[in-house]
Amino acid sequence: MGYRPEGRTQGGAVMKAALATAYGGPEVMVVGEAPMPDPKAGEVRIRVVTAAVNTGDWRLRSLIVPFGFRLMVRLMFGWSKLRQPILGWECAGVVEALGEGVSGLNPGDEVVGWPAAPKGCHAEFACVRADHVLPRPKTLTWEEAGAMHFGAVTALTFLRWGGMSPGKSVLIIGASGTVGSAGVQIAKAHGMVVTAVSSGGNRDLVTALGADDVIDYGTTMLADLDRRWDMILDCTGTLDWPVAKRLLTPGGQLLAVVGGIGMMLRALLTRWSAKRVRFGDATGTRADLDELAKLVQAGKYRPLIDSTYDLADIRLAHERVDSGRKTGSVVLKISSSEVLTSP
Ligand SMILES: NC(=O)c1ccc[n+]([C@@H]2O[C@H](COP(=O)([O-])OP(=O)(O)OC[C@H]3O[C@@H](n4cnc5c(N)ncnc54)[C@H](OP(=O)(O)O)[C@@H]3O)[C@@H](O)[C@H]2O)c1
Repeated sequence: MGYRPEGRTQGGAVMKAALATAYGGPEVMVVGEAPMPDPKAGEVRIRVVTAAVNTGDWRLRSLIVPFGFRLMVRLMFGWSKLRQPILGWECAGVVEALGEGVSGLNPGDEVVGWPAAPKGCHAEFACVRADHVLPRPKTLTWEEAGAMHFGAVTALTFLRWGGMSPGKSVLIIGASGTVGSAGVQIAKAHGMVVTAVSSGGNRDLVTALGADDVIDYGTTMLADLDRRWDMILDCTGTLDWPVAKRLLTPGGQLLAVVGGIGMMLRALLTRWSAKRVRFGDATGTRADLDELAKLVQAGKYRPLIDSTYDLADIRLAHERVDSGRKTGSVVLKISSSEVLTSP
């Protein structure tokens, strides 16, 4: 199985990559060949060591997107299948080539890269814009480094929208997932009081991440609670607005990480209300990436890893993400094991 982007002639260097051959379940994923990408001006080519498979990859691969967004995805990414079939929003690896005008990075540098869109990190090589490439934090394993951004950029963006500040309280629904587990750590790092919502089985896990208290969604209905929070970070899309409104303090905000057109309208309609909904896409700026690097360095944020897979097991990795039960991130190991075992 091979993939040749339009305009590329046969021949030339190729690499191994995970390719989405159609929209569908994990069975549409195959490992095949793709042309080696050339860094454009302002980009670097990274030899990928590890890369996370995340819920963004699941949504794009499966076209399971919130109500109202399917047409937009098809128009943006390909009508009957993905125009660019290599998924992967983030990676850790080694700089291998520099595009025109790149300074401050050199071949051989160990880095993390956040293309901020599915830009082909599930491959032996990926090109990432240089301003979204940072030195690999040495306190993280390669697996953790390859999963540093997706959840954390999202959590940081939404918590900022909510006015995160010391002493404020936040209820985090889905605290054991990639976004939620980063959210717990980032909110604690900013001095917030964190209540996590998870299954009973993940209570110890979210407590270890820093949650001040935990609500088990298997035994407690949020609608029955007589408590209030300054913000609610809902990473599951399970909380109704009328319930959320009751659980928020005056001026409180529902930070809806998941939602369709209805949530978008709700965000518009509540814009000037005492209690409002915030909804949107977290893309992450260079300033966000620098802040996350600082939190990692200070030991205040460490990506939570669910499991790791070899590139050859790409379908198993996607199955795990599709399960909706992972704790933190699923990571692909792409380059050789000697690199992976280096500190
Ligand atoms: N708006 C944006 O920019 C943006 C960015 C990134 C992600 N997202 C969206 O955010 C959502 C979450 O992403 P993710 O990567 O964090 O997901 P994830 O890692 O797949 O979340 C899985 C976790 O959610 C927990 N969970 C499931 N149902 C729950 C419930 N009712 N209450 C509490 N916890 C529950 C599961 O724990 P149990 O097994 O114990 O239930 C599991 O640990 C996805 O829908 C994704 O598409 C949006």
